[in-house]
Amino acid sequence: MTSITVTINGTAYEGDVEPRTLLSDFIRHDCGLTGTHVGCEHGVCGACTVQLDGEPIRSCLMLAVQANGRSLTTVEGLARDGELHPLQAAFRECHALQCGFCTPGFLMSIEPALRSGASLEEPAIRELLAGNLCRCTGYRGIVEAVELVLRDP
Ligand code: FES
Ligand code: FES
Repeated sequence: MTSITVTINGTAYEGDVEPRTLLSDFIRHDCGLTGTHVGCEHGVCGACTVQLDGEPIRSCLMLAVQANGRSLTTVEGLARDGELHPLQAAFRECHALQCGFCTPGFLMSIEPALRSGASLEEPAIRELLAGNLCRCTGYRGIVEAVELVLRDP
């Protein structure tokens, strides 16, 4: 076992993990942050997306030991003072989720692009979403949510 400390949403989490432990499993099982979902476990679906130093990554493709000493943001870190992040509010407004399994991954993939201040038209929005799979919505509502938050951040 290896002792690691990972800062997640501003809080330091310590744990003893096997070298093969996936970061997604550390986040969910050791830290109890179950907002990060696990679907395919091989980098395809995007459900496990979190941010490492502000950039989206697949937490099922990284080992927990590789995150030692690093800083992560998970979906639990988006809301502030009990208020949904504007992107979360836009998802609710535009019916951009049904079962919600994919939603944390979409939010964590999209949010850095919004933070960068990029102005995005629909083709670029769809490209931004291309790394995340949703089996329910048909993507229309998700595109509309991103358009809404770009119009009214
Ligand atoms: S669970 Fe990580 S990409 Fe699907
Ligand atoms: S809302 Fe069900 S998978 Fe996307």
